Amino acid sequence: MKRTTSLTVLTIVMMGFMTSCLKAQPTAPAMKAPTEKILIVYLSRTKNTKAVAEMIRSYVGGNLVELELQNPYPENYKQIVDQVAKENSTTELPLLKTKISAIEQYDKIFVGFPTWGMELPPPMKSFLKHSALKGKTVIPFNTNAGYGIGNSFNTLKKLCPGSKVLDGFTTKGGIERDGILFVMKDGRAVEVKAEVQEWLKKIGMLN
Ligand SMILES: Cc1cc2nc3c(=O)[nH]c(=O)nc-3n(C[C@H](O)[C@H](O)[C@H](O)COP(=O)(O)O)c2cc1C
Repeated sequence: MKRTTSLTVLTIVMMGFMTSCLKAQPTAPAMKAPTEKILIVYLSRTKNTKAVAEMIRSYVGGNLVELELQNPYPENYKQIVDQVAKENSTTELPLLKTKISAIEQYDKIFVGFPTWGMELPPPMKSFLKHSALKGKTVIPFNTNAGYGIGNSFNTLKKLCPGSKVLDGFTTKGGIERDGILFVMKDGRAVEVKAEVQEWLKKIGMLN
């Protein structure tokens, strides 16, 4: 009888102890630290740079925004080449229809564009000139017809002097002059996606 009583007491004490232990456990997993906010802004006429922007987003996430103009460029290739050459020779920049709300919320801003007249396209100059990018990390990416980035990355750096500019990405896109427009499909898309992944790892944006 005495033995049964002491066993019962022991059981009650142990149950009390276990309950208090359980209560001491955290009820929910700790909140994850907020991650960096990423913006991917791009200009694209024949959608090659857009395709690269989407590839970047598939790896790092973030908000994707396409730059649009208040007065769109002419469809005709020769006309747009002439207009861009004129704009590149003056300080006048095209007005943008796109307004990015609360740009200050972003830490890292990918900036994508085609090479136009071996330069940064005027709409991208306009975006960089009128955005508060001081203290932010700016990451350029580009497509071109095979003649490279020209002055575009240098011009970008000049237009965001208070930003940290990481090494940019460039790859061959379309050759509109020869009627080759969108090329980022099938095998080329697979190839470029792998190039993008390698670059993102190199600049520390991907593990
Ligand atoms: C107005 C204009 C100027 C261009 N100038 C160049 C150039 O100087 N060098 C070059 O390699 N490609 C040039 N291109 C070709 C584009 O850079 C190339 O087709 C790019 O992939 C287009 O990107 P998108 O499809 O995103 O518009 C030019 C295209 C246009 C429309």
